Amino acid sequence: MTLNIPRVIGHRGAASYAPENTLIGIRTAYDIGVDWVEFDVKLTKDYIPILFHDDTTSRTTNGGDQKISDLTYAEIKDLEAGSWFSEGFIGEPIPTLEEAIDLLIELDMGLNLEIKPCPSREVETTEVALDLLSHYWDDHGRLLISSFQISALETAMDRAPDWQRGLLLKEDYPENWGEIAKHLKASTININGNTVTEAEIYSFIQYGQPILAYTVNDEERADWLFRQGVSAIFSDTPDLFID
Ligand code: G3P
Ligand code: MG
Repeated sequence: MTLNIPRVIGHRGAASYAPENTLIGIRTAYDIGVDWVEFDVKLTKDYIPILFHDDTTSRTTNGGDQKISDLTYAEIKDLEAGSWFSEGFIGEPIPTLEEAIDLLIELDMGLNLEIKPCPSREVETTEVALDLLSHYWDDHGRLLISSFQISALETAMDRAPDWQRGLLLKEDYPENWGEIAKHLKASTININGNTVTEAEIYSFIQYGQPILAYTVNDEERADWLFRQGVSAIFSDTPDLFID
């Protein structure tokens, strides 16, 4: 199955315009013409997959400094994840993965699901998220599962071998990234678009699969990345890059 990745993917929804990893963020991305979004999934204490980036509640909720892995879904449901962003989003809930998938299907959008497990929950986060997706998602040309965690991608390969996987790499690229990518049969290499060098891009291109670059909000930088052979960017301001 060929991946139909667009040139720009809305990062955490459209994170410059609406609170990240929320349903209003996905709707905002849709409203500005975005075809695919990326968001992060992790598990509550009681194994409910939710959209959330950080390991703790402090930055993006009204819940003080608590670990997500210590909170049940009932407790997460009592928090709100909009007021930190701006007054207009007060009360915006933390969505479940199921709610977000429902919305993507309604809006006919593609998804890059980043498995962002709390420490030591790599395998279970992947298993729960993929199990849920398997009940809803049919179009595997418009679904990419990615992670910085090799064990999460190994679990994805084991549980859903035919689904496409993206290997996320941090900027200190390991020398053996190519072996890791081959081992994981990665369909994409997802790199830091703000720090990557021309020589590094050249070496990623030798792998022969699309290169995706996070998180690019600068038009000149995006142009440069595309000229170097990058296939797609993740952006908080995706409308800047939609023709
Ligand atoms: O998947 C691309 C990007 O989201 C990776 O970094 O920290 O924004 O999840 P982060
Ligand atoms: Mg992410």
